[in-house]
Amino acid sequence: MNHYYCKNWEPLEDTKRIQWDLAGGCLSFYTAAGIFSKDRVDSGTRWLVKHMTREEPCASFLDLGCGYGAVGIALSRLGWCHDAYYCDVNFKALRLARKNLRVNRVKGRIHCGEGADALRDHVFDGVALNPPIRAGLDAVLCLIRGGLRTLKPKGRFYLVMRTRQGALRLKKDPTWAGLSFLEIGRDGGYRVFRMEAP
Ligand SMILES: C[S@@+](CC[C@H](N)C(=O)[O-])C[C@H]1O[C@@H](n2cnc3c(N)ncnc32)[C@H](O)[C@@H]1O
Repeated sequence: MNHYYCKNWEPLEDTKRIQWDLAGGCLSFYTAAGIFSKDRVDSGTRWLVKHMTREEPCASFLDLGCGYGAVGIALSRLGWCHDAYYCDVNFKALRLARKNLRVNRVKGRIHCGEGADALRDHVFDGVALNPPIRAGLDAVLCLIRGGLRTLKPKGRFYLVMRTRQGALRLKKDPTWAGLSFLEIGRDGGYRVFRMEAP
């Protein structure tokens, strides 16, 4: 069985279309089996976007672990970021993300690979992650560390996590030493964190 966080080369079959009503208009996403949150846009995704848009916008932005592209597409449509990149390890999700960029008339560049390593030569003003909790905390930390390495000076990394899925434990992780680490939102059982590079 393919988990949503694995390389998945299955063809795009049985796609369905879901919607997300945003202040900037209604967004429409193609999703499919084997993809994270295929029946509705995840609550963590919604809280992440809501709290990020209360912050200063970003020029260059990476939607890390983009799935079908909800975070980057919403932020682009809201005008919060301009030059958006999307990466995921799940190729099937990326094919959906490509389709969803087109459907929502948003521009973006898509990369397939393990974490931000797929984008080794790039640096960003902002990176966001709704982490693949089911892959385990070590995998999540590895993904975050890779993402932090792609930040420009003063770049910001945004993370959403359910409180009961280890957000408080993560908050104490030594990975953030030297970064300014701030909880910028707490809603519906989720916490949204911002880490800022020196
Ligand atoms: C919780 S889902 C979030 C998806 C999307 N950002 C959203 O909010 O709907 C986490 C995503 O991370 C991806 N992922 C897991 N491990 C990864 C890795 N090592 N590199 C890149 N993406 C990964 C999964 O395939 C999945 O699409």
